[in-house]
Amino acid sequence: MNTSITQSVSWTKLKAHYQNIQSIHLRELFAQDNQRFENFSLESCGLLLDYSKNRLTHETLQLLLQFATDVKLKEWINRLFQGEIINDTEKRAALHIALRNQSNTPILVNGKDVMPGVNSVLGKMHTLVNKIHEGKWLGHTGKAIDTIVNIGIGGSDLGPLMVTQALKNYHHPCLSIFFVSNVDSAQLTQILKEVNPETTLFIIASKTFTTQETMLNANSARAWLINKLGDEQAIAKHFIAISTAAKQVEQFGIDPANMFEFWDWVGGRYSLWSAIGLPIAITIGMDNFNQLLAGAHALDNHFKTAPFEQNMPVLMGLIGVWYVNFFAAKTHTVLPYDFALKYFPDYLQQLVMESLGKQTTRDNQPVDYATCPITWGALGNNGQHAFYQLLHQGTQLVPADFIIAIDSQHALPDHQDAVLSNALAQTLALMVGRNAEETRQAGVDEAILPHRVFPGNQPTNTLVYQKLTPEILGTLIALYEHKTFVQSVCWHINPFDQWGVELGKQVASTLLPELTGQYAGGKYDASTDGLLAYIKKRRSFKK
Ligand code: F6P
Repeated sequence: MNTSITQSVSWTKLKAHYQNIQSIHLRELFAQDNQRFENFSLESCGLLLDYSKNRLTHETLQLLLQFATDVKLKEWINRLFQGEIINDTEKRAALHIALRNQSNTPILVNGKDVMPGVNSVLGKMHTLVNKIHEGKWLGHTGKAIDTIVNIGIGGSDLGPLMVTQALKNYHHPCLSIFFVSNVDSAQLTQILKEVNPETTLFIIASKTFTTQETMLNANSARAWLINKLGDEQAIAKHFIAISTAAKQVEQFGIDPANMFEFWDWVGGRYSLWSAIGLPIAITIGMDNFNQLLAGAHALDNHFKTAPFEQNMPVLMGLIGVWYVNFFAAKTHTVLPYDFALKYFPDYLQQLVMESLGKQTTRDNQPVDYATCPITWGALGNNGQHAFYQLLHQGTQLVPADFIIAIDSQHALPDHQDAVLSNALAQTLALMVGRNAEETRQAGVDEAILPHRVFPGNQPTNTLVYQKLTPEILGTLIALYEHKTFVQSVCWHINPFDQWGVELGKQVASTLLPELTGQYAGGKYDASTDGLLAYIKKRRSFKK
């Protein structure tokens, strides 16, 4: 019989400690310690983490660190880096760290070093990237490729989309990139209107090469290209695949020479470092892609070696657990003050919620504690004029990560000062709030005074970097990957499987024939049957 983490001594102590701390205002914590910033911040790998505006004390940290020891975090980190089969429901290792292991030390999976394979794919990517950049990858009609369309979804889309958006400043000037993920034909149709079939290279990115959305989009793109160029042979010059499924790729008609492999030990949401990152490498060049890997590798080394009290992903993970399990926080928000990170919250949603949205422990027991917070966010400055009202005066505790670039990637005067002052103002205002007396002194009409009071005490982390470079971006992504891993260990769940998405996929494939063929009804519940009948009757396009 395995005991729950809630039975550990540190958990019990944290529970008692929460009773003492829950009503203390962050203002008081700052008043008690004028070194609070120095005491609760750290710098590593080009990132500053200020976690002083959190509802914690030295004692809280000691207890959380004890909890990390109780759940054997150090041992789990070693197991991750040693390539052990820690994705136990799928019987796989989880070795995204090998993909950016620039020190090239051997990493064994089932006794075999994976590094030669990793390096060989990186070499193959390098060759393709150079060929495209030098105008030597020619399309079927002899014209050089100048447009990339990545077709994929989930991990085969969100990472490359987020990174290519973030590093637009590094893009090759003569290349355009598009991403198709949604199965609604609107997205593909729109993009096909914009691209030239003679100069477009489609990348079909799918770990399994069976994902319905991706395969449907890939088949439609294939039909479009053949129709436009009038020759099936054109596929060889205009389609490449990134997959672990060589057989399916060949069946689709893509030359095996144009397939970039990766391995079952690379999870979809951890795959942007693998050949799935090819659209990134093509747009920013291989040197910059290597910088992205180097940034992640630096953070890997930090995670592996730094003592827990100075370990960024460990601290961020533990602080998150503190809010979820003791303050009962339901959500966590990520607020970048850097336009380049526009898609970072979307990317994090898959990373965090597909990894930690679990209710069964590694010992097959139902959890008796909360796990993943609902993870969301948006560009901070835009959010201020949309949902920040709730952060300031709503009824929920919403721990937030503010992500701030000191320097912009661009040079317009005044803008960056505005960005920085807004970001700092928000973390300050969320922390101190404004009480009734201060509000009165500010001259607010007594009749509406309660509406103008701000409770404050909303906890925030602030992450600061100099300027978003490929290296810093790699570091930032790896930080959140490892934070996610830390929380999985705390909650004793496997962050590398995603069985939860299977049921919807299965049901969709059962329902598809009811939509496309004859269906008399009676097979499903009244709502589903009713909706099917309603939609079928009104469909303008009938097969
Ligand atoms: O449905 C979820 C999922 O399996 C993700 O985990 C994955 O990133 C995505 O679908 C795409 O899968 P594939 O790369 O196999 O097409």
